[in-house]
Amino acid sequence: MKSIVLLVSGRGSNMEAIVRAAIPSVRVAAVISNRPDASGLVFARAHGIATEVVDHKAFADRATFDAELARVIDAHAPDLVVLAGFMRVLTDAFVRRYEGRLLNIHPSLLPAFPGLHTHRRALEAGVKVHGATVHFVTPELDCGPIVIQAVVPVQAEDDEASLAARVLAQEHRIYPQAVQWFVEGRIAVGDDGRVRIADTIAPDKGI
Ligand code: GAR
Repeated sequence: MKSIVLLVSGRGSNMEAIVRAAIPSVRVAAVISNRPDASGLVFARAHGIATEVVDHKAFADRATFDAELARVIDAHAPDLVVLAGFMRVLTDAFVRRYEGRLLNIHPSLLPAFPGLHTHRRALEAGVKVHGATVHFVTPELDCGPIVIQAVVPVQAEDDEASLAARVLAQEHRIYPQAVQWFVEGRIAVGDDGRVRIADTIAPDKGI
């Protein structure tokens, strides 16, 4: 059994998708939020998952907030830490502490549109495809090794909301997939920083 901790800041629909996926051999040890009013906490509590709040407003700076966040996470001894709509920039020290076991989902096809307002920026840029990316977190924002991406078309009549909804549906598909690959030990990051997913099907039994 592998244990995971999920970090949320708001709605938590990606956290919900991962919990509902009921991935074999995965135990959700806790859902942690930096916001006491995050609605994702309601779902977690209703599903009997331990919840914790580390309110960033109670800390003088990022370093002290991240140190407390790490203390709370480590109390659950997770194999994997999953950022699921966690809207805080993390310090290098925090990121390094969880190197190789810290995943994030970002609502764009990275390296396009790192940062905020990805759907608005995609529409402004006139791209014809958009999507979402699950990646390992590294100190540089939205730059870590890419695990899986999903592509959606951008339609002429799209606005931010319709595009966001199309992308979100794909986020709910690829994030549980990435977590499953991780707990199965199938994700390897090469020296070139690229992710390879090991096949579980023996070559002679391939389809
Ligand atoms: C998701 O679209 C996620 O990709 C995005 O926030 C949303 C959270 O939704 N994350 C980021 O923008 C991270 N920079 P959720 O709370 O319903 O999962």
